[in-house]
Amino acid sequence: MTIGSINLDHQVCVDILPRRGETVISRSLNQGVGGKGANQAVAAARAGARSALIGFIGDDAQSRGILERLQVLGVDVSGVIAVAGVPSGSALVVREVSGENFIVVNSGANAAGDLPLSELENAIVRAEVVVVQGELPPEVTGLVIDTAGRLGTRVVVNLAPVTSIGGAIRWADPLVVNEVEAAQLLDTVETDGVELAKQLRERVRSVVVTLGARGAVYTEGADVLHVPAPRVDDIVDTTGAGDATVGVLAAHLARGESLGRAVEHAVRAGSASVRFAGAAEGYPSFAEVVL
Ligand code: ADP
Ligand code: NA
Repeated sequence: MTIGSINLDHQVCVDILPRRGETVISRSLNQGVGGKGANQAVAAARAGARSALIGFIGDDAQSRGILERLQVLGVDVSGVIAVAGVPSGSALVVREVSGENFIVVNSGANAAGDLPLSELENAIVRAEVVVVQGELPPEVTGLVIDTAGRLGTRVVVNLAPVTSIGGAIRWADPLVVNEVEAAQLLDTVETDGVELAKQLRERVRSVVVTLGARGAVYTEGADVLHVPAPRVDDIVDTTGAGDATVGVLAAHLARGESLGRAVEHAVRAGSASVRFAGAAEGYPSFAEVVL
């Protein structure tokens, strides 16, 4: 089960990113479901897991459209809560043809929702694995992790963006971050993935650090092991690659696989996702990924 952000993404594509004060014309407009929570729930479903999502949307027609899309993409949205009087979260993704981009997010309902503790507990005890990210308010993220830890349900924590969730982080099994987030969390200039994973290991149950085109490293006891990514020559869009990795990782952990096996599947899925445009809307079926 994933608890996290749900957005409507608006992606425009420009020849050159605008500078301050400049207006540029887009080549195209693509709209689709986004937000790390939604992306990861879709990725888990695409890997063949029963995937439920808890999160917050607005109570307007556009928000209902987001829910319908998520259902089409295989996600159980019965736990999504509509918040009155706010729009759903949205993200404006301005992508340059070169692949460079910038993103502006309006949190909307993601920052306005309230999750009753009893409902949270009911959902967590029913789940094999709980997945959270850093896009909901830190106190919500912290509460979810603490509740999962207290109830003995495994919790995958993708602390992206890095937010301050206090002691709750100790339950993370694994903590999944990219190299930049790992360094930020540790407040270090260290850039070596193995070293970052070793240092993070002190604070959590297990660690996965993703390394982009180089794959990922994960901790196994005192060891840090590397899973290389398959080489991809036809990269289309790396948006949501990390979310594909996290969702597929959780799907395989929920099946009872070891962290190492799950990371192997997750890395292949992340690499497969960069061959398709967009995030959730462009994920292939990860059950059949061959690279
Ligand atoms: P994030 O998107 O969160 O920054 P990464 O860039 O580390 O995460 O990417 C997550 C995963 O996606 C990697 O572990 C890898 O499997 C895959 N991936 C990302 N970029 C590439 C690439 N250029 N070539 C092949 N695989 C990639
Ligand atoms: Na993609």
